[in-house]
Amino acid sequence: MIGHIVGILSILLAANLLISEGQVHLPVYGIINQEVVLRLPVDQTGSGLEMYWTFQSIILAHFSNNQMKIINEKFMTRLEPSDSGTTLRIHNLTMEDAGIYAVSVHTAGRKIYQTSYNLTVYEPVPSPYLRTEVMGYRTDGCNVTLQCSVPSHPSHLSYTWKYRHQDQEYQLYDSGSTTQISLAPDHQDMEILCIVHNPADHKNVSSTLQEICSDHANSPDIEKGIKRRYYLLIVLYVVVFTVIASAGWYFMKRNKRRKAEENRKEEPQEEVAYTKIKHPPGKNNDNKV
Ligand SMILES: *[C@@H]1O[C@H](CO)[C@@H](O)[C@H](O)[C@H]1NC(C)=O
Ligand SMILES: *[C@@H]1O[C@H](CO)[C@@H](O)[C@H](O)[C@H]1NC(C)=O
Ligand SMILES: *[C@@H]1O[C@H](CO)[C@@H](O)[C@H](O)[C@H]1NC(C)=O
Ligand SMILES: *[C@@H]1O[C@H](CO)[C@@H](O)[C@H](O)[C@H]1NC(C)=O
Repeated sequence: MIGHIVGILSILLAANLLISEGQVHLPVYGIINQEVVLRLPVDQTGSGLEMYWTFQSIILAHFSNNQMKIINEKFMTRLEPSDSGTTLRIHNLTMEDAGIYAVSVHTAGRKIYQTSYNLTVYEPVPSPYLRTEVMGYRTDGCNVTLQCSVPSHPSHLSYTWKYRHQDQEYQLYDSGSTTQISLAPDHQDMEILCIVHNPADHKNVSSTLQEICSDHANSPDIEKGIKRRYYLLIVLYVVVFTVIASAGWYFMKRNKRRKAEENRKEEPQEEVAYTKIKHPPGKNNDNKV
């Protein structure tokens, strides 16, 4: 164990990989269970080059002679080098993979280049959906409140609204999960888009205001009236059903009670008959004999 640590330390010292405080790291953003690519920002290919990759100052992998030797067990099956070791792909990211990665390039035992990355791992952004509420609708326009909602709330989510007319480019409109829009009738071809993002991922949802506003135009109070009538009908059905069911139950109970009473009247007669059979006249006389 100690030999192992000394070995790693000597590699680190020999490679001069230890990262100094206050160094600026290239920001890299990854998504859980997906992959991330760490790439040298400058061209460093050529024969006789060696690369040392580290994670949190612990040696991760060593690349030389077109061969990758993975030293850190946690990454054993998840590292994939390419471009002569100047690109490192990490598969199946976990939250624990977040941290500082560094790479140094050596030739003939001399360090010629070094850079480092700050990897942050995020949860994927959930798919958003739009909730709309028409605040005012008249023939001269439509005022809508739009809310961009997500089914779960991982941290670091932000919201951007964009709009466009027909096939034009999207224009920035607003930020925040809720926005409001006021439209003249001749602008209702407008499409509104909400993008939910964190630094690593983004998803969007869009709708045309025509859909939103015309839904409202076609279903003002008429539909509400129909709905109210449906509710009344349902209540009426429930009441009628309850009355019929209770009446049925009452009559059934009454019939049962009547039958039970009739049975009770019959029972004593049977007992009398039974007594007669059990004690026939003259039987006592036989015993006495
Ligand atoms: C990544 O995870 C999936 C299942 O979650 C697994 O099938 C696959 O083999 C893993 N890939 C690596 C390189 O570990
Ligand atoms: C790495 O990036 C994260 C998120 O951007 C930041 O909070 C953290 O301070 C950075 N770490 C270093 C060592 O720069
Ligand atoms: C929409 O809102 C604007 C400003 O809030 C108002 O002047 C306009 O009358 C509203 N239009 C409708 C159709 O409600
Ligand atoms: C919205 O998301 C789709 C994939 O769902 C993507 O193809 C499209 O480019 C995104 N649009 C914008 C403007 O980001």
